[in-house]
Amino acid sequence: MKTGHAHLFIPGPTNIPEDVRRALSVPMQDHRAPEFAALLSPILRDLKPVFGTTDGTVVLFPGSGTGAWEAAIANTLAPGDRVLMARHGMFSTLWVEMAQRLGLDVDVVDVPWGAPCPVDAFARKLADDSEGRIRAVFVTQNETATGVASDVEAVRAELDACGHDALLFVDGVSSIASVPFRMDTWRVDLAIAGSQKGLMCPAGLGVLALSPRAMTLAESATMPRAYFHLGDMANAHAAGSFPYTPPAPLLHGMRAALDRLAAEGLENVFDRHHRLASGVRAAVDAWGLRCVAESPACASDTVTAIYTPEGVDAREVIAIARDRFNCYLGAGLGPLAGRAFRIGHLGDLNEGMCLSALGLVEMALNAAGARVPYGAGVAAAQQIYTPMPALRAQASIAAE
Ligand SMILES: Cc1ncc(COP(=O)(O)O)c(C=O)c1O
Repeated sequence: MKTGHAHLFIPGPTNIPEDVRRALSVPMQDHRAPEFAALLSPILRDLKPVFGTTDGTVVLFPGSGTGAWEAAIANTLAPGDRVLMARHGMFSTLWVEMAQRLGLDVDVVDVPWGAPCPVDAFARKLADDSEGRIRAVFVTQNETATGVASDVEAVRAELDACGHDALLFVDGVSSIASVPFRMDTWRVDLAIAGSQKGLMCPAGLGVLALSPRAMTLAESATMPRAYFHLGDMANAHAAGSFPYTPPAPLLHGMRAALDRLAAEGLENVFDRHHRLASGVRAAVDAWGLRCVAESPACASDTVTAIYTPEGVDAREVIAIARDRFNCYLGAGLGPLAGRAFRIGHLGDLNEGMCLSALGLVEMALNAAGARVPYGAGVAAAQQIYTPMPALRAQASIAAE
């Protein structure tokens, strides 16, 4: 029997704060009554700052991030449309596959897993596209499989530099509400999030934010869609409802989660994610291990993927952490299976939680045959998490 609480360190679903969990537990309600509109409309309003938009329109679809990918494509593009995408991890690969299945003509740039979105290669493709055939450019802001962050702003700058008017689509499923996302500033046309990561809710809602341009395009889009029809959803939302039965308890959870984000302050949320992630990265260095992210400059603030040492199967590390220590780590996906494990560090998280994850990972690594010094990762993270004045005070006490 497992005792105590589970340590959940997968990069989504994330830990649900107690007040959000309580908010989810509500009696069923009439979703056509005015009370439902009074719940939904402020949620749609309060999601806007999370996306960094005042001009955009936020739409919720029952489903997950994958459903939101489909809704994004089906509502704005037509079969045969050319789009520019990169493959550099499992999620960007799956998005490419979906675009192909939906009949888009996908120009794919392959880069090694561990690299960010290839902005320079995108820039060349855009500059060469003098006929303007590329209708949209897709960026995965945070590749959850590799723990790599990509520079959305730099892609916008390249689009502007060559005067290309392709739409800019961003998968922010594992980044939005955890790291800065500036939809209006970066002139993103369509951004995608899910309820179960930075938004600290259970899975079940795909969250889309669309620019006015994307909303206009949706009116004349020709790709078949029914359940994910944006026009139907946007019209219903304008009246405070859904065109079909909504997951009302999830919306109560979302209300509580948005209140938490507002109370902490979004910039503080972003700073916290950066600080916690920096501690995890310091631990990886102290263990003498290597991140899958090819450089610190592109390391994600929401998830860290870590190669195990030669001869140590990452699946075993994950199984030991789970079975002996009640600690759940993210698996290595695709070609990283057995070679890497992931620590998710997003959502409702603090220093103590990260330190316990790092301590448990040290034990699981050693139990699986790796030789990492006990306490080294924890100590490295503590040094990041402890403000310098306290360290200095400690140092002067030690010197006395
Ligand atoms: C970056 C990214 N995009 C898309 C998805 C797919 O989302 P979902 O599993 O909610 O369908 C995920 C899931 O982890 C993800 O991390």
